[in-house]
Amino acid sequence: MRFSVTLVSFVFLFCTVLVWAAPVLILYSPYDYDGSLLPSRSLDIRGTGHSRQSGQYVLKLNGQKILVQPNSAQGAHGVVYRVVDGHYAGAFAKALVSEQEIAATKAAGALLVDGSDDHKQRWAVIRASPGKRLDQTSAYHRVHADRTQCNALLDHAADVATREIMAVHSRTRWLHQDPSIDNILFDDGVAHAYLIDWGCTSQPSRVDERQVRAHVRSALAQSGICPKGPRDVNVAPFHCPAPVTLKYPPKPA
Ligand SMILES: Nc1ncnc2c1ncn2[C@@H]1O[C@H](COP(=O)(O)OP(=O)(O)OP(=O)(O)O)[C@@H](O)[C@H]1O
Ligand SMILES: [Mg+2]
Repeated sequence: MRFSVTLVSFVFLFCTVLVWAAPVLILYSPYDYDGSLLPSRSLDIRGTGHSRQSGQYVLKLNGQKILVQPNSAQGAHGVVYRVVDGHYAGAFAKALVSEQEIAATKAAGALLVDGSDDHKQRWAVIRASPGKRLDQTSAYHRVHADRTQCNALLDHAADVATREIMAVHSRTRWLHQDPSIDNILFDDGVAHAYLIDWGCTSQPSRVDERQVRAHVRSALAQSGICPKGPRDVNVAPFHCPAPVTLKYPPKPA
């Protein structure tokens, strides 16, 4: 009888501890990572009183702690974070970067620091670009309803972007090969282009400017921000490495 009471008490105690600890165990398990769940969870679930803002994570880079949160314009891959505090506040922290991407980002003058986390995943902390997506510029808002004017803006934006791609190539030898609407940003009047995301790049010795322009123009048209134009020509994009999923996200703050 006494043995059964002890056993029941033990099982009860064990279950209580398990229920109390489960959210934290789930939170920290890198294998069950689901990027859509993490931001809504926080250690407040335990009611410890150590209130932290949910959605912030600690990235340990070369031993240095950097507070980050997932970037709002995150794709499905969960690799781009925004630094929320400290020396690099406002910068982008991107995981799973290749050595090539780091080298090109550095040559383009946008790399703040690179390093490895505790899982030997490579990260780059990248300066925020002053540019914005073409469809967020005033120049676009003025013309977007008119097919002819909108496509004329795409032509102009392709010229401006091509000039910048060629200029960076002649300065650094790195050719930006992923000129999508998300990766070529502009100032409000679309007079200047800013290149971000050097995840697809190489160092060809010679580059045909007309081919670059055709790639950029095609990518802008395929974004669908303008009604389809009469002179749209689809150009096959460069072959870029498929993005990988981050297995070991930074730990919640
Ligand atoms: N340096 C930067 N300046 C401004 N915005 C940035 C910068 N780096 C990243 N971003 C924002 O984060 C988004 C994703 O970053 P990036 O293009 O480098 O990653 P990606 O590998 O293409 O990831 P995804 O698969 O999520 O698109 C960009 O489209 C942009 O909105
Ligand atoms: Mg991108």
